[in-house]
Order: sequence, then structure tokens, then C-alpha cells
Amino acid sequence: MIRGGSRFSLEYLQTNMAQKLFIQTNGCQMNEYDSDKMRDVLQASHKMEMTEIPEEADVLILNTCSIREKAQEKVFSAVGRWRKMKEKRPEMVIAVGGCVASQEGAAIQKRAPYVDIVFGPQTLHRLPELLDEARSTHKRVVDISFPEIEKFDALPEPRAEGPKAFVSIMEGCSKYCTFCVVPYTRGEEISRPLNDVIAEISSLAKQGVREINLLGQNVNAYRGEMEDNEIAEFSLLLHYVAAVEGIDRIRFTTSHPAEYTDDIIEAFAEIPQLVNHLHLPVQSGSDNILTNMKRGYTRADYLEIMNKMKAVRPNISLSSDFIIGFPGETEEEFEETMALIEEVGFDFSYSFIYSARPGTPAAELADDVSEETKKQRLKKLKTRLDEMTQDISKNMIDTVQTVLVDGVSKKNPLQMTGRTENNRVVNFTAHPRLAGQFVDVVITEALPNSLRARLVESSIDKILNK
Ligand code: SAH
Ligand code: F3S
Repeated sequence: MIRGGSRFSLEYLQTNMAQKLFIQTNGCQMNEYDSDKMRDVLQASHKMEMTEIPEEADVLILNTCSIREKAQEKVFSAVGRWRKMKEKRPEMVIAVGGCVASQEGAAIQKRAPYVDIVFGPQTLHRLPELLDEARSTHKRVVDISFPEIEKFDALPEPRAEGPKAFVSIMEGCSKYCTFCVVPYTRGEEISRPLNDVIAEISSLAKQGVREINLLGQNVNAYRGEMEDNEIAEFSLLLHYVAAVEGIDRIRFTTSHPAEYTDDIIEAFAEIPQLVNHLHLPVQSGSDNILTNMKRGYTRADYLEIMNKMKAVRPNISLSSDFIIGFPGETEEEFEETMALIEEVGFDFSYSFIYSARPGTPAAELADDVSEETKKQRLKKLKTRLDEMTQDISKNMIDTVQTVLVDGVSKKNPLQMTGRTENNRVVNFTAHPRLAGQFVDVVITEALPNSLRARLVESSIDKILNK
């Protein structure tokens, strides 16, 4: 029998059975990526196994997000639930990582002393040591520093899980938009060396990955060191990625309009592997608001980029993030955003009500737009964006689309599921052997969140004859 809390039970756990790890992830794709890396480092160092059940975990990690509202409160209510479990099993370790951890540091443990470890987005590779330290000293540990790029050197070789993979190419952000916490929580922009990125992608390709999503807060701020000490810009990186054998689809998340230079637009003309989809957050259609946000481009600059993209890729799907109700936003300024979406014609996009983030310059501005007005504006914008998205889906009916097959559909085991270039989920009847392959389908039906399709049989001949 294992007795809770004794030295015996800890040693028993460490030597005789795999310890279980539970991770709860809030926030963006970057956080999802970081959570996978937390799992990887702890699997490598402590042979941990993942569990979906927090009660049975030995280590519980909350990967937090502070981009919008109530971030801190969410953290304390989540770890508060874990506290009760820890009372029953005191050897449980509770760790808080991510952007709230980065901002609050030891203050988290002041309010929630049962939190053993606080670590930031740039120190997740140190989790094994932090865990050992917390266990051996029974003291609370904190590491929210921003060590240079050592994180990536310390991470285990990535393992492919299916035909798609994210690869982080740069970290942090140096743009300091007046509303945003990211530069404070994740630090300034720092790029991984070109060879490291390409080696990781080659390794994933050898494991069957066909689609790479290059990840960073501002991927087009990428400035990766090369062997000859020259610096590779983002467009050059795209050419290198496209040259990796087996990589047939390339996406990136997210780029920024201020550094969206012509060489990136040319890359779309030259690199067929780049998908016909671009997510380029504009935030607002008003020049005055863009200036107050310190975004570094005008409405005209943004429109010029979008028009150039349409010229090189006539069927491209364009999407954006929008912030509604930035301090002082007038009705006319909001209408400029509405007019911009008509002019560009956006596909599935994200829109948020402005939320004052402590420590950011915009939080000092008088926020004179009422909550009610913000909600109304958001609803108006969302309704129109949804209509546009549905129209695009409907227009896809009867067209042939290339789909990367992810695997068997979770909802219907007789169907396969995959994604189009413009990132729509498509379900269709096909052989499970097609998982991980590109096939052509004809779209037959557009549902609100997915498409139905029919396989083009001739497109699978090459695959099945392999
Ligand atoms: N690096 C990315 C943005 C990361 S944050 C980029 O520039 O695109 C993701 C989105 O959250 C932003 O594009 C913005 O629309 C939204 N966001 C960021 N801070 C916000 C805030 N304080 N209030 C509301 N939305 C915010
Ligand atoms: Fe945030 Fe602006 Fe950077 S939105 S992530 S500060 S580009």
C-alpha cells in the first residue's frame, strides 16, 4: 500500500511506476505548442505519462494566458480546485506556467501557497530541474526569466503526431502595440537559427509530416542566423522549408502587416507549397485607432498588401483579428472597420472586445466607450464576418479541393476528415489508409462549421499504387 505524503510513497512512485502528468492549456496556439513541449521534456526526464484525469496526476500544470479579461482570476479558480486534491495527496506538485506566471511571478504563490512551481514561457525547458528542486527542498520555486534562445537547445527531438506539425521559429514580440501584454510576458523578438529550424522540419518530414505551420508572435520579424553569420529573413526561410523533401504544405501564424514586405508576397508567387490562405491581423480599419494602437501601418498600407496578395493568388482566403472598442473609438471609426471588411472580403476571422491589460500604455487611456456599445459593435462585426465566411463555404460547393487527410472522423468512424487549404474541416467517405495523404475531393455541402465532400477516386491511384 502507498501511504500519502511519506518519503516511501515518493520513492515508490519515482522508481516503480510511471508518474502521471496533467496539463491544462489556456490561450493561443503558442501555448498549445508550449504545453506539448512541457510534456516532451517531462517525458524525457521523468518518463511521465499524460493523463486526462487531474485527480490521478502526480504533476499538474496550468499553462496560463493573459491576453484578455480575467486572466488572473481564472488562474486562482483553476488551481483552487487542484488544492483540494493536493490536500488528499500532498505529494502532488502544482505548477503554473505561461503568461500570467510571467507577469505575476512569486505573487501567485503569495495568494496560493500550495502552488509549488511558477515558470514562464521561456523557462519551460527547465521544468525537470524545477520539479526536482521543489520535491527535494519542499520549497516553492520560481523561474520566470527570459534566457536567450537556450530553450530550444534543451528540448527533446520533436515527435510527429499525424501529418501536421507546428514548428516555432521565433519567440516574443518587440512591437509593443499599446493594448498588448505579449512583449512583457514573452519578452522581445528572438529567432531560432535557420539550421535548427530546418533540421527540426526535416526530422518531422521523415516521420511522415506533410504540413508545417511556422509559429511565432510575428513570424515575419524572423531574422535567423545562418552558418556564415549572415541573417536569413522570413522569405528565405520559406524557400528553405519548401525545399525539405516531403513538406507539401506550409502555413504560418501569425504575421504582422508592418513587416509584410514584397519579398514575402513574391514567395507566394514562387512557392506552391504555401497555402492559399493568409491570416494578417489588421485590428482596426481606422487610421486614428491604428496610430493609437501603435500598429505601425495605415489602412492604405494594409489594403495595398491585401491587393498585392490577391494579385499573386487570386483565390486566396484572407483573415484577420479585430479589436472592437479600443479607448476612444468613435462610431465613425468603427464604421471604417466595417467598410474595410467589405473592401477586403474576409474569411473566418477573430474579433474581440478591447480589454485593458495592466501595465500596457492603452490601459492609461480614458476608456469612454460603454460596454453596451462595444457589445453592439462586436455583434455587428461578427454577424457580417460570419456571413462572409458562410458565403465562401457555399461558393466552394462543386469545386475540387485538395485535402490533407488527418484521419478517421471522431463523429463518424466510417468517414475520414481533413482540411482544405483555407483551413476548413472536410468530412468524406474514404479508406482509412488515406490518413496522412493529400487527396482531391469535390465539396458537396457547406455546414456552419465544416464541409462535406466526395472523394475524387482518380486522385488516390498514385497513393494506393505506391
Ligand atoms: N502577434 C499577434 C497577436 C497576438 S495576440 C499579431 O500581431 O497578430 C492575438 C490577438 O489578440 C491580437 O491580434 C488581438 O486582436 C487580440 N488582443 C491582444 N490584446 C488584446 C486586448 N488587450 N484586448 C482585446 N484583444 C486583444
Ligand atoms: Fe501583441 Fe502587437 Fe506584438 S498585438 S504580440 S504587441 S504585434
